[in-house]
Amino acid sequence: MNPLSVIRVGICGLGTVGQGVWKHLERIRPELESRLGVKLELTRASVRDLKKRRDVKVPASKLTTDSLSIAMDPNVDIVCELIGGTTLARQVTLAALTAGKVVVSANKALISKHGAEIFEAARRHGGHFLFEASVAGGIPIIKALREGLVANRFPLIYGILNGTCNYILTQMEEQDAPYTAVLGEAKRLGYAEADEALDVQGWDTAHKAAVLTFLAHGTWVKPEQMIVEGIDRITPIDFKNASALGYGIKLLAVIARDFDTDELSVRVHPTLLPESHVVAKVSGVFNAVSVRGDVAGTTLYIGRGAGQDATASAVISDLVDAISLLKNDRRAFITARKASAPARPVRACRLAPSEHIRGRYYLRMTVSDEPGVLAQIAAAMAAKNVSIASVIQSAQEPAGAASLVLTTHQSDERAIQATLSRLARLRCVLERPLLLRIGDFAD
Ligand SMILES: NC(=O)c1ccc[n+]([C@@H]2O[C@H](COP(=O)([O-])OP(=O)(O)OC[C@H]3O[C@@H](n4cnc5c(N)ncnc54)[C@H](OP(=O)(O)O)[C@@H]3O)[C@@H](O)[C@H]2O)c1
Repeated sequence: MNPLSVIRVGICGLGTVGQGVWKHLERIRPELESRLGVKLELTRASVRDLKKRRDVKVPASKLTTDSLSIAMDPNVDIVCELIGGTTLARQVTLAALTAGKVVVSANKALISKHGAEIFEAARRHGGHFLFEASVAGGIPIIKALREGLVANRFPLIYGILNGTCNYILTQMEEQDAPYTAVLGEAKRLGYAEADEALDVQGWDTAHKAAVLTFLAHGTWVKPEQMIVEGIDRITPIDFKNASALGYGIKLLAVIARDFDTDELSVRVHPTLLPESHVVAKVSGVFNAVSVRGDVAGTTLYIGRGAGQDATASAVISDLVDAISLLKNDRRAFITARKASAPARPVRACRLAPSEHIRGRYYLRMTVSDEPGVLAQIAAAMAAKNVSIASVIQSAQEPAGAASLVLTTHQSDERAIQATLSRLARLRCVLERPLLLRIGDFAD
């Protein structure tokens, strides 16, 4: 049996993140070993293609294509799941947890889809699942919620959780460039995947919002239960309009809980934020998370949300926790983890119905340029009790069309969706209106 003076790490997946972890672990190994009082061994790693050229030098004897064999290897204490996806990654994770190992993961899609099953397997078999790298890359937001802010309840968490979308929005605003051109550039620079849908349609952000929601409220909300809207219908005109109104545009995840009613809403959508707001100034591939705690007040975290080094930094932070867990007082560590990541919430919460999700809205629509149009639109909105706060109108291509931008006073999701349907049926409204939320966050 391993006396735990040697801790053996297996890395499943040696892609962007896996190679970063291997590289940095090798670099700081002497320091970590002396700090933790253990010997650290990178025992095995798995890949899909043994012949692929890699930036890190891994002896052939340590490489395999069989990730499950690493998960079940009695000579591996900690398994890093850095494969991605939800099929093999789930098998590897469950196999390792069932064998009582510690699993470190960066896989938000896996946690969002199978989190309940994974945490249950960890509990049942005495394994542990650590996932700092799954949300906001190098920002230690999981630790902040679970440890630093453990005395708090969280009425509001919001932020930029997808660097690709933030890069695209920043470029569109700064270069006055259309979405498709900036997306193409983002792909060339390696900031966007070949299939960009997961990022730009908001699903990656939703996966991360699900992880934060679990940590903050002890409940799993599936992306399909959230409002999820992406950035692919935003145009440079929207940035000009937003700027004229004093706002920038960011794709935000918003997790809000009313502790009087115990209603929770989790949503992902492009949001108009006042230009002076700190989060509105976070540009490029950076992420930002604002956490309002009922004891600490608001704390804000900004940093690199992805990329090899930032993500490896988060994985290694979990590895160090895992080593402490294996080496030190196992029971004390387990108790602390259980207390701070509630499997069953002390106070249950339920999803807020759409009429309880309140806010102000920005609507842009292309309308026929003829008399009486504004009156028809105002009547359609009034019929759903949505009142107009401001109007910007400008001529637009093609000839005979105009762009109309309205902002509303306080309304709610149910009323605004009903209004959208009504507007879309008007003959004078030439295409589906674009709806953006206005972020009225006090801090
Ligand atoms: N990249 C980031 O900036 C970032 C940031 C935060 C979180 N994450 C998360 O980290 C995880 C890994 O992301 P990544 O960007 O490093 O992905 P990646 O570059 O695509 O690497 C995936 C690795 O898994 C291996 N792999 C895939 N299928 C396999 C199979 N069937 N059997 C054995 N090995 C297999 C690949 O092998 P080959 O190399 O031989 O193809 C590759 O080494 C994902 O969950 C991702 O969401 C990534």
